[in-house]
Amino acid sequence: VSDQSGLWNELAQGPDEVFASFLVPALFGPMADALLRIVLPRPGERVLDVAAGTGAVSSRARERVGSGGRIVGVDLSTGMLGIAGRLRSADALCGGDMGALPFRRAAFDLVLCQQGLPFAPQPERALAEMHGVLRSGGRLGVAVFGPLEECPTYAAIAEALGRFADTTAMLPPFALSDADRLVALVRGAGFADVRLVREAVDLRAPSARDFVVGLAAGGSSMRRVMAAVPEDQRRRVVESVEAALARFQGGAGLIVPQPCLFVAADAP
Ligand SMILES: C[S@@+](CC[C@H](N)C(=O)[O-])C[C@H]1O[C@@H](n2cnc3c(N)ncnc32)[C@H](O)[C@@H]1O
Repeated sequence: VSDQSGLWNELAQGPDEVFASFLVPALFGPMADALLRIVLPRPGERVLDVAAGTGAVSSRARERVGSGGRIVGVDLSTGMLGIAGRLRSADALCGGDMGALPFRRAAFDLVLCQQGLPFAPQPERALAEMHGVLRSGGRLGVAVFGPLEECPTYAAIAEALGRFADTTAMLPPFALSDADRLVALVRGAGFADVRLVREAVDLRAPSARDFVVGLAAGGSSMRRVMAAVPEDQRRRVVESVEAALARFQGGAGLIVPQPCLFVAADAP
């Protein structure tokens, strides 16, 4: 990702491609690694990846379950699923809403959902659906972003953008960043032995500028906010974010902690 031309909205890649080629290596891949270290998919398990996107979680889970296991990804976006398919992230991919999962009951041993639940209009319902497709004794692993104000990158972007635009549209990815609420929702859906892990993963990008450009191009919420901001103001946003994140920039590029919440639970 580069905005050398100054026109980051004219990137050759579409938003879903930028998500896969830039945001997954920068953030969603490391987050998936952390989720799977916490939930530990086992050889032979049948795994459902809810809101699978381009398959960051599916592809990693696939390595762990081996040839005897099966990974199924479900997502609302056909564009994201198209890339997941091209990357052979899962054994099967299907379009569907997490509020009405298109699978029979007790079909899976493990359900994973990374940074998808905050987008559910009714997270209670989505969690009940996840519970329903798990066999008795199955497991759930959920990952979401921690609070926006604790995420140095997003907080810097929100602060800089807030001078020029309404940043309300940046908020949906952080809708479940309250750990107590998240745990209560998972318990409320009937899960037992609910464990919360707070862990910051390393967000990596060549530079703060690259991250802002990549997020504006590949992040659905950020794209909406940035679309309303003229080019000269975008440049000022980038400059402010570069200044705010200067302490995270070193020889290996930009490395910033991204606080995340992970929840592991059992389906009784
Ligand atoms: C930030 S992306 C995360 C994708 C993937 N889990 C990852 O970690 O790379 C959020 C995903 O949630 C999907 N999504 C949003 N609402 C959904 C819904 N109601 N049902 C299924 N997927 C949904 C979007 O299409 C998008 O692919």
